[in-house]
Amino acid sequence: MIKISPSILSCDFANLESECAKMKTAGVDMLHIDVMDGHFVPNLTLGAPIVKCLRPKNDLFFDVHLMISDPLRYIDDFAAAGSDLITFHVESDSDVQATIDKIKSHGIKAALSVKPGTPAEAVLPYLDQLDMVLVMTVEPGFGGQKFMADMLPKISAIRERANALGRDIDIQVDGGIDSATAPLVAAAGANVLVAGSAIFGAPDPIAAVPQLRQAAQA
Ligand code: DX5
Ligand code: ZN
Repeated sequence: MIKISPSILSCDFANLESECAKMKTAGVDMLHIDVMDGHFVPNLTLGAPIVKCLRPKNDLFFDVHLMISDPLRYIDDFAAAGSDLITFHVESDSDVQATIDKIKSHGIKAALSVKPGTPAEAVLPYLDQLDMVLVMTVEPGFGGQKFMADMLPKISAIRERANALGRDIDIQVDGGIDSATAPLVAAAGANVLVAGSAIFGAPDPIAAVPQLRQAAQA
């Protein structure tokens, strides 16, 4: 079963509430919220105060992707703001185990992400504790980049190991996902598709959601 998580990075931030309401209408499974600190990645986006303001406006599952150098320091804030799942990067400066433990102490889901240059092996030791793994299919930092097809074997390797462990975890992909690349990542074993420009950049963002889902399931 394919899940769709639109990245609000590509939405009209002046109308954040209505943009997110549109995604609820479209029947998405989650809302992907990209947090960047201008240090871990060369871009700045938003912090926990925005998540907190959005929380009472929308009851979708908040999938928060932290692209920040010291995620451990901010887990309490993002959990209190209403995150349902927090993803952080294995390449960050925080202790991975301590950060997973901190996320779980709030009773929410924990995910670990790998940048394109990081091998699958970096997340495998934590698979038994994770709800999701995010395989970046572009260098994190910006929407609208080209999908990196050489990430497909990494997705398969993580899916195979999860299966071997009997763990039916989510594997999310993020970056350059559209109707052309969705079938490739789904065939490799990904089941949660993040899409920014392919949804919010479409002429009809609401119609783009079932189109993407169908493309992945074809
Ligand atoms: C990139 C972000 C993505 C981004 C994806 O660093 O993590 O979530 O918004 O955008 P598209 O779908 O346009 O590649
Ligand atoms: Zn993201």
